[in-house]
Amino acid sequence: METADLKSLMHDPDYYTKSFHAYAKNSKKFAVLERWGENTFPQLIGERLANTFPQETNINMLGIGSGSGEMDSSMAASVKARFESVRNVVLEPAAKQLEMYRSLVESKKTDFEGIEFDLRQCGIDEYRAQVGDQPSKYHFISAIHSLYYAKDHKDTIRYLYDCLEEGGILLIIVVSDVSGFWRLWDRFTRFQDGVSRYLCTTHIRDSLSSLGIKFDESRQASRVDITSCFQEGSDDGELIIDFLSHTVDLRGSASPELYREVVDYMGSEKCAERKEDGSILFNNDWDATIVQKPLSK
Ligand SMILES: C[S@@+](CC[C@H](N)C(=O)[O-])C[C@H]1O[C@@H](n2cnc3c(N)ncnc32)[C@H](O)[C@@H]1O
Repeated sequence: METADLKSLMHDPDYYTKSFHAYAKNSKKFAVLERWGENTFPQLIGERLANTFPQETNINMLGIGSGSGEMDSSMAASVKARFESVRNVVLEPAAKQLEMYRSLVESKKTDFEGIEFDLRQCGIDEYRAQVGDQPSKYHFISAIHSLYYAKDHKDTIRYLYDCLEEGGILLIIVVSDVSGFWRLWDRFTRFQDGVSRYLCTTHIRDSLSSLGIKFDESRQASRVDITSCFQEGSDDGELIIDFLSHTVDLRGSASPELYREVVDYMGSEKCAERKEDGSILFNNDWDATIVQKPLSK
């Protein structure tokens, strides 16, 4: 497969952020996450934390690759509703994402009363190098669609598990093994660029099992409207294509044949459904994997 001249989104955090937000808008990503946060999170995670730790605990949270913070900050607010105070350490390497996270926190100060946000511009591997052998312990750690970017996802899971307090919870969200994302990445292995290591839930499941760590899973259906990817001259469509393929300007850098092959595959029944009204919906299903570290006897 052709690989020359294709630049991964991971080498251009600003472009990553721009294409990610085009994709997020068309997947109603934040709305789906918000509903998940309101309906599923409290019962899968909030309740378990509340049943494990006393209400006066100062809950330490760690967010890995929290992006512009919509999901992570609402999880922090949901946890805060059950505990006296929350400290939320956020690792996010993209400056623009972090800037948006900061503005979000500023704009909703009253919603976040009692939550201390500690926003750090770094990735998970840099964090590990910075904190060395004595990392802080956390009651709740989340990695929502970000483990793809860790150098070694299995070792990162082992590390994050070690960072949990006894009774603490690790939440990992990645694309499901039936998602269009996974099918696309698996078919076009070129997009595995040496920075991102494409994963689906199968990899998380296998890694946890081989580490001997017990977990639960919960699947969330989600679709991205990719109709604009098939409309000539649509800027939004091109940005979505770039996010799905994780490539900067796929149209301008791939051969016309490769570009066509990738876009046709995105719209094929392997990855998407075509609706009667002409819209094309990419399968964006994801799974939440939840680990609770046992309390020692
Ligand atoms: C798909 S976005 C998800 C953002 C957010 N968690 C959400 O679900 O809305 C992935 C995020 O991971 C960040 N990221 C990239 N490399 C990373 C790394 N090495 N460690 C942690 N996060 C990383 C990206 O900048 C991006 O904000």
